[in-house]
Order: sequence, then C-alpha cells, then structure tokens
Amino acid sequence: MNMLIHAHSGLRYVVLGLLIASVFVAYSKWQSNDQGDSKLYLFAMIAAHTQLLIGLILFSMSPKVDFSMMGNALYRFFTVEHTIMMLIALVLITMGRVRAKKLTGADKHRTVLYFYSLGLIMILVAIPWPFRNLGAGWF
Ligand code: HEM
Repeated sequence: MNMLIHAHSGLRYVVLGLLIASVFVAYSKWQSNDQGDSKLYLFAMIAAHTQLLIGLILFSMSPKVDFSMMGNALYRFFTVEHTIMMLIALVLITMGRVRAKKLTGADKHRTVLYFYSLGLIMILVAIPWPFRNLGAGWF
C-alpha cells in the first residue's frame, strides 16, 4: 500500500510532464498544419491510464476513502473530489486521443490541444498539493 502511494505520488510528475509537452506540441503542430501524429499524445494517455489503475487500487484500500466521513474535508477530498475530478480528466484525455486518431492535420492537433488542456487543468486542481493541507507531500 505504501509503495503504491509513492508510485501514485511520483507518477503525477510524469503525467503532468507528458501532458504539458503534448499541449505545447499540439499547439505548434496545429499552427504549422502538421500532417503527422505525435507519439507524445499516446505516451501521455498511457501514463494517465496507469495513474488511473493505481488510483482505483488505492480507492479500494485507502483509509482516506470513507463514505461515512463526508463531514471531514480530508476524507471528502479523497473519497469524492479527487476521484471524480480525476475520472473526468481521464475521460477527457481518452476522448481527445480517440477523436484525434480519426482526424488529420490541424484538426487532429487542435482536438488534442483542447481536450488535453482541459484534462490537465482538472488534474492540476485535483492534486492534493502540500499547500492544500490534505496530508500529502511533494513526492
Ligand atoms: C492523473 C490522475 C491522478 C493524479 C495525478 C493523482 C495524484 C495523487 C496524489 C499526488 C496523491 C497523494 C499521494 C501522497 O499521499 O503522497 C493521490 C492520492 C490518492 N489518489 Fe490519486 N491521482 C490521480 C488519479 C486518481 C484516481 C482516478 C483515483 C481513484 C479512482 C485516485 C485515488 C487516490 C487515493 C484513494 C489517494 C489517497 C491514497 C492514500 O494516501 O491513502 N487517484 N493521488
């Protein structure tokens, strides 16, 4: 369980890095009307899905997930807010990639740009950053 939390915690930076890189690449490929694809889009989605998988395991095991403790901000955050926002972000990223795959040129990259940017913002908001006093650290 401890190892999983550390993996989940550290993997956030991989997910964030790949998403931010994808957004920049998508913007420049959109602007230059690039007809190609980018493997970065795929890697970002895989990293996010890996995070989802670990998250689902943590959800089933974590003492911070407890539906009878909704009056407490920390329990509510992990039981409801973190989970729901991350699930929505995952759906957005997956939809972006699936839609983009069927498109070409500027349309493909614009689709990735919009969906990945939205997903990225949701993830940034739903991460228990240390300054939010939710008992989680930087790593
Ligand atoms: C990209 C998506 C996600 C990111 C970046 C992310 C990030 C994090 C971070 C940074 C922590 C704090 C770890 C620590 O204490 O140091 C955490 C905890 C947790 N996450 Fe996620 N998460 C994601 C998706 C999910 C999903 C989809 C679920 C559930 C289905 C989930 C369930 C949990 C749970 C239950 C904890 C608390 C674990 C504990 O300390 O007992 N996460 N997450």
